[in-house]
Amino acid sequence: MSDRAAAGQTAVGALEIKDTRTGKIYNVPILEAGVEGDTAIRGTDLRQIKADEGEFGLLSYDPAFMNTASCKSAITFIDGEKGILRYRGYPIEQLAESATFLEVAWLLRNGELPTQPEYTQWVHGITYHTYVHESIRKFLDGFRYDAHPMSMLCSAVAALSSFYPKAKDIFDPEQRTLSIIRLLAKVPTLAAFAYRHVKGLPFVYPDNDLSYTENFLSMIARMSEPKYEANPVFGRALEVLFILHADHEQNCSTNAVRAVGSSQVDPFSAVAAGIAALFGPLHGGANEQVLRMTEEIGHAKNIPAFIGEVKSGKGRRLMGFGHRVYKSYDPRARLVKQLAHRVFEQVGMDKDLEIALELERIALSDDYFVSRKLYPNVDFYTGLIYRSMAFPNDFFTVLFAVARTAGWLAQWEEMLLDKEQKIARPRQIYIGYSERPYESKLTDKAPISKRDSIRK
Ligand code: ACO
Repeated sequence: MSDRAAAGQTAVGALEIKDTRTGKIYNVPILEAGVEGDTAIRGTDLRQIKADEGEFGLLSYDPAFMNTASCKSAITFIDGEKGILRYRGYPIEQLAESATFLEVAWLLRNGELPTQPEYTQWVHGITYHTYVHESIRKFLDGFRYDAHPMSMLCSAVAALSSFYPKAKDIFDPEQRTLSIIRLLAKVPTLAAFAYRHVKGLPFVYPDNDLSYTENFLSMIARMSEPKYEANPVFGRALEVLFILHADHEQNCSTNAVRAVGSSQVDPFSAVAAGIAALFGPLHGGANEQVLRMTEEIGHAKNIPAFIGEVKSGKGRRLMGFGHRVYKSYDPRARLVKQLAHRVFEQVGMDKDLEIALELERIALSDDYFVSRKLYPNVDFYTGLIYRSMAFPNDFFTVLFAVARTAGWLAQWEEMLLDKEQKIARPRQIYIGYSERPYESKLTDKAPISKRDSIRK
């Protein structure tokens, strides 16, 4: 076990808890649970605290996991107060500047940067597996012309599980590697097919001569030209956005992948659960909402009225602002803002970017946002970049999902190999009725087997 893995085994003190119901005093060990100094108590250590012996024991009540560590992880480190994000120890800024997305995907999974032979083999494997079974094409063809591409992607990834039944052998390292390669390879193909379906365009098959992001752009945008050549600024911008979105520790969708994966289902099904979670407007759907918001505002002169509405507390939110973990500027948002300027140098300034910049300026100087530590998150500017690259609004979350697949898979495998993990199954505090007898309120006296039939 490495020094890093050993962290978390040592008690650095104890919490003395007095139960005023019984007068009993308990000592609960405080564990040094993380290399960056996090400390924690084990939730199950509270179970010994009981008012009488027949009781289950004290639970910790933590809706939305506001203060609960569900796992130990060596993958991603975030300091939300200081605005730090690192993958396997490497600062996100350095990876965004110099790495490729597939290098980062390897790093997330394996813990170290790949050597040249490892990288060559990894890229070859992923390139080789980009094609999907022709039946998947037919499956995607069955969707309505206006289907949301996230629904299509989620269903298609779940469907892949039926094409690879051996993927359920999750404790076989070879099968795991193959599934991980297949998912990283095929998710961009499925995403591009979903895009082309909605546009009513023929599917473009993968071009194995191109890099990961170039091939993705080719499958999206290629028309009659024999070889697609991506705009290099767009190609690199997409690669940087993929790197920035590749992982973000225990966010909603990663938690979904881990929770569903903890049932030991195959990784295609677990990743489909992550895609479903990412679809929500409070998570990956936020970048789409940012664009809807700037379009609705329409002009910089309407910003004060909009901000006033957000502050009135009637449920309106400034989309792309605020984060459960970051209580300062999201480091990814800073990088994305720089990237937005680079892309807009190519395509020209956009009205919505002007609105976004002005919204940010006003919000960062307004006490409502300052006092609540609400800063731009990664989604604030990504939508603007994606749209300037001609991606439709409802495709933004799909781009997020393509990138996050790398993180989901690394987190899924870490969870599987963690001896402390079991099937995820939280407790509840029951607040319903206590026992009461069944007395039907139905007046229909038909036999039980017929009561729910409309043809009696
Ligand atoms: N606009 C206005 N007010 C906000 C916003 C916002 N974007 N976010 C939080 N607040 C306010 C809340 O109303 C609350 O105020 P109150 O204390 O007066 O009631 C306070 O700030 C705390 O908000 P919570 O909802 O408790 O914060 P939480 O950590 O649960 O929510 C979240 C985090 C969901 C990201 C929230 O900030 C939000 O809805 N943001 C907009 C959606 C968004 O951009 N999501 C993307 C997140 S990043 C990602 O998933 C990739």
